[in-house]
Amino acid sequence: MSANYRLQEEFETARYYLRRVKVDDAQPIFDSYATDAEVTRFLGWKPHQSLADTSAFLEIAAAEWDLGSGFPVVAFDRKSGGFVGMFHPKLIGHRVSYGYVLQRSAWGKGCATEVMRWLVEQALAHPMIYRVEAFCDVDHPASARVMENAGMEREGILRRYFHHPNISEAPRDCFIYSKVH
Ligand SMILES: CC(C)(COP(=O)(O)OP(=O)(O)OC[C@H]1O[C@@H](n2cnc3c(N)ncnc32)[C@H](O)[C@@H]1OP(=O)(O)O)[C@@H](O)C(=O)NCCC(=O)NCCS
Repeated sequence: MSANYRLQEEFETARYYLRRVKVDDAQPIFDSYATDAEVTRFLGWKPHQSLADTSAFLEIAAAEWDLGSGFPVVAFDRKSGGFVGMFHPKLIGHRVSYGYVLQRSAWGKGCATEVMRWLVEQALAHPMIYRVEAFCDVDHPASARVMENAGMEREGILRRYFHHPNISEAPRDCFIYSKVH
């Protein structure tokens, strides 16, 4: 029997270096995107008010590594060394589900596409992973495009699926994407 799926604690794509998130990453995350209402618009949380909000989130996220239930990584530009954002694969049985967020200055350069392609390939290469998936708000075409670029197909609309508190109090319809083998 093969070992459970895990992500490497550090890895590189052509342009980015990624490593396991640490609670100490709170400051760059807080400074670069956690307080930016444009970045959090289609996310499941409101902009952070204080560094303590970011630290509290990271305490929980970082602990997922030890449980083997999630593998949040932070990304850096290999050339400049600058902080770029975070990718968050979660293991749910035979599935890996993804979230991702980049600071605004990193948008539109193909970063999410490049890293998601790497992550999707890495997950589906594991014998116990049959499906990778992600969802986004129906009004978020940039994220939908990232999933398509990563080789996923749109399966449909999950109606009233997720609460995006920066858009409305009522849960929103979302596109669900996947790649299977
Ligand atoms: C969504 C996000 C991760 C995209 O990251 P990115 O590195 O800029 O994405 P990429 O450059 O790899 O690809 C973006 C794609 O969306 C397309 N795109 C961007 N804005 C678009 C828009 N308004 N309408 C349609 N397509 C759009 C780009 O053209 C590109 O597609 P292409 O490669 O076919 O040209 C980034 O904008 C982000 O972090 N947003 C805030 C957090 C967030 O919303 N996360 C996702 C939650 S589901």
